[in-house]
Amino acid sequence: TNRTFTMIKPDAVENGHIGGILSMITEAGFRIVSLKLTQLTLADAQAFYAVHKERPFFGELVEFMTRGPIVAAILEKDNAVEDFRALIGATNPADAAEGTIRKKYATSVGENAVHGSDSDENAAIESNFHFAGREQF
Ligand code: GTP
Ligand code: MG
Repeated sequence: TNRTFTMIKPDAVENGHIGGILSMITEAGFRIVSLKLTQLTLADAQAFYAVHKERPFFGELVEFMTRGPIVAAILEKDNAVEDFRALIGATNPADAAEGTIRKKYATSVGENAVHGSDSDENAAIESNFHFAGREQF
């Protein structure tokens, strides 16, 4: 599809980067389909990141993602999933290319400022996890 799902993670919200990150997203040609400030519960974060539940950093990841508010958004653009992964950059900001969101705003491999869906299927699942149909414009 032409849609993807993103979260501005608690580190970037705490550090005052909501506006800067949304600007980079819209300047890259994405249309905002849905947008809200919200906070994940423990159960939400465990479900959202269930694919990582056997990884050694799972506890740390869930603790981080629940410690404060996040911005959840659905974005639209041709080739949205792949183009958005390119815009955010590598998981570890030390490996992220110049001009990417993580290069500019991430502080570590764990606290890396933004999430981007990794497939069309997951984009739809994650979007519907956060937004009702009437909130998807
Ligand atoms: P997302 O867009 O958030 O899914 O990131 P990603 O697809 O680039 O990475 P991945 O799905 O492999 O990992 C999900 C998230 O787990 C990462 O974005 C990090 O927040 C966290 N994470 C990944 N590796 C590590 C690690 O080695 N240590 C810690 N503390 N967190 C990690
Ligand atoms: Mg991922």
